[in-house]
Order: sequence, then structure tokens, then C-alpha cells
Amino acid sequence: LFSTVEQAPPDPILGVTEKYLADKRPAKVNLGVGVYQDASGRLPLMRCVEIAEQRLAEDPKPRGYLPIDGLASYTADVRELVFGADSPLISQGRVVTVQALGGTGGLKLGADFLRQVDAAATVLISDPSWENHRALFTRAGFSVSSYRYYDPARRGIDFDGMLADLTAAQPGTIVVLHACCHNPTGYDLNREQWAQVLDVVEARNLVPFLDLAYQGFSVGLADDAWVVRTFASRLGNLFCASSFSKNFGLYGERVGAVSVLCRDADEAARVRSQLKIVVRTNFSNPPTHGAQLVATVLADPTLREIWTSELTGMRERIKSMRTSLASQLAQAGVPEMGYVAEQVGMFSYSGLTRDQMLRLREEFGVYGTDAGRICVAALNENNVGYVASSIASVVRG
Ligand code: LMR
Repeated sequence: LFSTVEQAPPDPILGVTEKYLADKRPAKVNLGVGVYQDASGRLPLMRCVEIAEQRLAEDPKPRGYLPIDGLASYTADVRELVFGADSPLISQGRVVTVQALGGTGGLKLGADFLRQVDAAATVLISDPSWENHRALFTRAGFSVSSYRYYDPARRGIDFDGMLADLTAAQPGTIVVLHACCHNPTGYDLNREQWAQVLDVVEARNLVPFLDLAYQGFSVGLADDAWVVRTFASRLGNLFCASSFSKNFGLYGERVGAVSVLCRDADEAARVRSQLKIVVRTNFSNPPTHGAQLVATVLADPTLREIWTSELTGMRERIKSMRTSLASQLAQAGVPEMGYVAEQVGMFSYSGLTRDQMLRLREEFGVYGTDAGRICVAALNENNVGYVASSIASVVRG
């Protein structure tokens, strides 16, 4: 049966972690996967999560099945964080939120549902985009193309190219947009540019699928949801995949969601019923623990306050590591990489070539993706100098 099965290539992101773990050298740094690490280089258990965990443990509950569409208090929290607690769209019953296995799971639920609704639609992703976007929508059965986004020559966004490509898209085209902290480049549109994108999306009748995996990592929770809220205030329909992997540090719990904006409550009820079939035929119903942790934190004003201040601390630490990397690169003889301090979110598109990234890995044990992305959220005072001098060696050497 399997004699013709071919060996698949390693995953472009998680495969880097596999290589890093297999590396026996002591001086190694994993800047591959998007995982936040604290000042001592460890993945933190957030204090708010630790307290919620203790509370859940003090009052242990049996583990029955959750409803197919997830824990109701959790999905209500997601809706409010993404669309705003006072959003009229929520009170009008226009937003359907279904619990998913991380942000990736939210994308896949939305993709599978969209494929049922419009099998002929094509999907446009940014060039470049998160490495898994193309694969995920392709596996869901769509033909996937890209719109221009990053211009390596000017080291920034090719906004005219992006607008031209969106304007040329057929009505009904699904457009995957990074709501904040563009992955992999770290370059976001400004609000005027987003307004122009929204004009095109509306005029061309495109279907926006907003990926909000990094809410809280650019400016703050509400600001980082501005794009979703602005699009939602004008459009009849949109999709938003969101995740607590990063902003709660709950990577392994797979706590995410997909939210779908509908034209009215009746449409929302029908969409929900279809999303439930997608869930039921994939994993039946979602897991309990991560959703309960998030719901416990968000239901308690004190824990919520601890959460937002911890999140602010993570965001500020990343920004300070960006500044530190830029200045250490300058000291090491690479002043032209000052742009790492201007980018936002967990990632920096370093501008290094694939060959340079492979040299970084092989000669110095510094692991980024082949495409040149490095996770600045994994830098700290102990490794940033080594990373800067390693980059300088491959850039200058
Ligand atoms: C990343 O881009 O590194 C993260 O979103 C983790 C992942 O699943 O790829």
C-alpha cells in the first residue's frame, strides 16, 4: 500500500525546531518557531494561567464532552476580545464563534466551510505569508495564489502592488490578511492603507479571512483588533481566525477559534450549524482544559488585569530586544539591518538569503527559517550578542 509513498519534506517552521533539538552544540539558539521566551530564555508559564490552573485544580470537575462549537463562556470571550465588548454586531447576533484547535484549527474550519459554500473560489495569500497558509488552503481543496506584499528591494511593503493585485481579483476571491504583526515580515500596513484595502475588498466583493494570531503583540489588545473591527463595521461577511497560543502562552493547549461575521442572526444560525458539521466530522468537539483556563482568567477582573500587564511586559521585552539586536548588529559591522527595530510582532524578516540562513545554522547553531525569518521573541540579553556576531559573520564573511 505504501510502496509509492514519498518522503515529505520537513515542515518549514516546526522542522527547524526538530533540527535545533537534534543539535548537540551548547551554543545554539532557536529563532525558528514563533514562541515567546522570557529574559532567561525560557518559555514562561504566565502567572494568570498558573493561578487559573490552581483554581481549576482546587475544584476538579468531570471531563464530559463540550458542545460541538465549544465552551460558551470561552467563545463569548473570544467574540468580545476580537470584535469589542460593546460591538453592536455581537448584540445583533451577527458573529458566530466556534472553538478551534489553535489559530491553525480556526483557519482550517473556516477553509473547510468556505469550500462547501463556494468550491470554485480561489484563495489569495500575501507574498510571502505564514508558511502554512498555502498548504492549509491547498489541502482544503482551493487553488492558492498570492498578492504582492513585501518588496525586498525597498525593504518594505509593495502597497501599490498589493492594491493592484486585490483590485484584479475575481469577486468571491478569499483574501487571507494578517490583522496585525505580519508573519513572516514584521511589516504591517498603516491605517490609511488598511482603509484603502477595505475599499477594494468591498468594491470587488472579496471575502476577507483575517488571521489574528498575535493580538496584543503590536500595540495592545484593542488596537491590534482594529483591522477586524473596522472591516466588520462595513462588511456583511468576514472570517477571523484567532488564537491564545501566543498571548496566553498556551501553545500546546491548542486554544483558538474561528469567528464568522454574518449579515443577520438568521444567517448566523445557519452558518453555525454548518461549522458544527465541520467540527463534528474532524474532531467531534474541542478539548476542555485550555478554554477553561482562558475563560477563568477573563471572567475575573484581577486575573484579567494580571494577564494584560504580563502581555504588555512581553510586548515591551520584544521591542527592547529588537533595539538591542539592531544596535549590536551595528557594533558588529552590520548597520544596514537597523530595520529589525522598526518591524513589529514576534518576527523579523532578516533579509538574509537562504544560503546565509543555512550557514547561520550550520556554522553557529543559530536557527531561523530558510526564508530568512527570525523570531526576535526568543532573543535575550545572553544570546543577542552571539546572534548579532553570527549574523555579521555570514553577512560580511
Ligand atoms: C510560527 O509561525 O512560527 C507559529 O505560528 C507557529 C506555527 O504553527 O507555525
